[in-house]
Amino acid sequence: MSGEGRGRANPPARRLGEAARRQREEQEARIRQLHRDRVPGEPFRSPFARVVRRILWSLALEERAQRNFERIHARERAWELGAKGPPAAGESSWRLLHASDFHLDFRPDLPDRLAARTRETGPVDAAVLTGDFFDLVFREDRLDRGLLRALVEVFPAPRFAVLGNHDILAVGDLLESLGVQVLMNEGVELPAGTGARQSLWVAGIDDARTFATDSLASALDQRAPSQPCVLLSHSPHRYGQAARAGVDLYLCGHTHGGQMAPPWPWMPGPGGGLSVARRSGPWRWRRMQGYTSNGCGGCKLPYRLNAPAEVVVHQLRSPAPEKGATAPAGATGLATPARPGSSGPGSLREGRPGFQ
Ligand SMILES: [Fe+2]
Repeated sequence: MSGEGRGRANPPARRLGEAARRQREEQEARIRQLHRDRVPGEPFRSPFARVVRRILWSLALEERAQRNFERIHARERAWELGAKGPPAAGESSWRLLHASDFHLDFRPDLPDRLAARTRETGPVDAAVLTGDFFDLVFREDRLDRGLLRALVEVFPAPRFAVLGNHDILAVGDLLESLGVQVLMNEGVELPAGTGARQSLWVAGIDDARTFATDSLASALDQRAPSQPCVLLSHSPHRYGQAARAGVDLYLCGHTHGGQMAPPWPWMPGPGGGLSVARRSGPWRWRRMQGYTSNGCGGCKLPYRLNAPAEVVVHQLRSPAPEKGATAPAGATGLATPARPGSSGPGSLREGRPGFQ
């Protein structure tokens, strides 16, 4: 997809296609009705929330859970897209800064807390944002553009995003007006660094659960067979389909890592239909690798237990393409060239803390 195809003349809703757009708008109207009495940012209105708060307080865990919610961790992970052994001449590498599940109206102070973490991540080739920008704002006239701008400015350009199950289509318009490219079942080519010969196909699908308006085939349409590919999806639910389609790395969020999880493996509500293996962190399905981000915000309750909020720098490398492999016809590079030093070692630590 080319950069000329975006903007006011061709907003995300139109790029989704007529049938999917109608399906999404009908579902958005249902959700708007369902949440008409909900007030963003009031976590303890429901009896359930008050009970959870009371339980945490009685277990002397409330303070810790609140602290965990506010503290965002910066991590780094290395991935080999088909490569083995030490980096060789001709290999390509990219650094992607991944963040997810902001739920801005639940905690509007998130951009400030995030900025402190993203300053530690060093140069990256792109920021990839996997949805749930807002929490309970389902009316276009109530979307806070200033708050979204504050969030967007935390991340370096180029920025790519997909919408989540909490995001109405108008969020896509706002994001694009702020310089984020929203991938509505589309893909773009991210150039490799200096001296490298391969580009990365960054594909993104619309929400696969609540709206079910995703199309992986469309997102991979212009990808060359030999081209390494990263898929952005709000939720992990399309992992089987993506593995069959030859996606190399599947980046997603949605589960919040359980947000309040026991220290043993379990599957929280938001991940319905998913195995524990894809609830949080790195996973593999057949030849495809994946990473489910815990996200950096949260919803319903301002607590986290055993599911640290995070931003992740994914360091990718891919071997040089085989002789005869070509770039995809018609694919247009939209991203800026890799930043100097972007393939260097990161300054962040990998790994997860114990009980939190
Ligand atoms: Fe979320």
